[in-house]
Amino acid sequence: MNIIEAKNIDFYYGDFHALKGVSLNVVKNNVTAFIGPSGCGKSTFLRLLNRMNDLIPDIKLSGECLINGENIYRKGIDVDVLRKKIGMVFQKPNPFPKSIFENIAYGLRVNGEKNKEFIRNRVEESLKGAALWEEVKDKLTRSAYDLSGGQQQRLCIARALAVKPDILLMDEPASALDPISTSKIEELIYNLKAEYTIVIVTHNMQQAARVSDSTGFFMLGELIEFSDTKKMFLNPDKEQTQNYITGRFG
Ligand SMILES: Nc1ncnc2c1ncn2[C@@H]1O[C@H](COP(=O)(O)OP(=O)(O)O)[C@@H](O)[C@H]1O
Ligand SMILES: [Mg+2]
Repeated sequence: MNIIEAKNIDFYYGDFHALKGVSLNVVKNNVTAFIGPSGCGKSTFLRLLNRMNDLIPDIKLSGECLINGENIYRKGIDVDVLRKKIGMVFQKPNPFPKSIFENIAYGLRVNGEKNKEFIRNRVEESLKGAALWEEVKDKLTRSAYDLSGGQQQRLCIARALAVKPDILLMDEPASALDPISTSKIEELIYNLKAEYTIVIVTHNMQQAARVSDSTGFFMLGELIEFSDTKKMFLNPDKEQTQNYITGRFG
């Protein structure tokens, strides 16, 4: 089942044409990766999916973006509700200046949850889901800033999971991390897809090949090719894709 359907999306920052006629479908409970040279529109496309670009002045969008069959750019849509369903994790871990526990509980409290036991259980469940529980269970009241970078990133993933989103967007989630933390994040992504749909931007092609089911290759705002990850890396249809994945440019 397609949880995301983007149809002929054009996107402008002022006069700059950042996405050109992008269409693609994302299958539920798949990991979908976007690769391509820096500045080709990967983050722009990712941010469209939970309307994060709305915050940028002087943008223009045409085309359709359906999530669970609903056009997320139609008039009257509740963007706060949309963003609860679509969590996001960024390149640099950005925990709140709060305790480990409160980082995870925050989203629940904002949603009006008051039941202490429910919150405690959900914090534990989310930390387990992000493969961090064993490392932090004895220091939940410590500041999130006391954690390592890799732990902070898993904390940010746990924070996103706490409100039970349908989709998790990740923009280069491991590119600021060391190799061991990176492999932990990759393993986590692989395990999370049983319950979530994940869309990840990565500049690391090996990472895309390791973690994703489908891969999209962007260049200069165009989606050059989008297909099954194995096919993309072994036998791409387009010469530009072949050149990129064999390291001939970018
Ligand atoms: N807020 C913005 N205002 C103007 N131009 C932007 C903005 N964000 C990104 N761009 C431009 O849009 C293009 C695509 O950027 P981006 O989506 O961040 O690429 P990628 O994530 O693939 O590196 C780049 O040329 C970038 O300079
Ligand atoms: Mg980017």
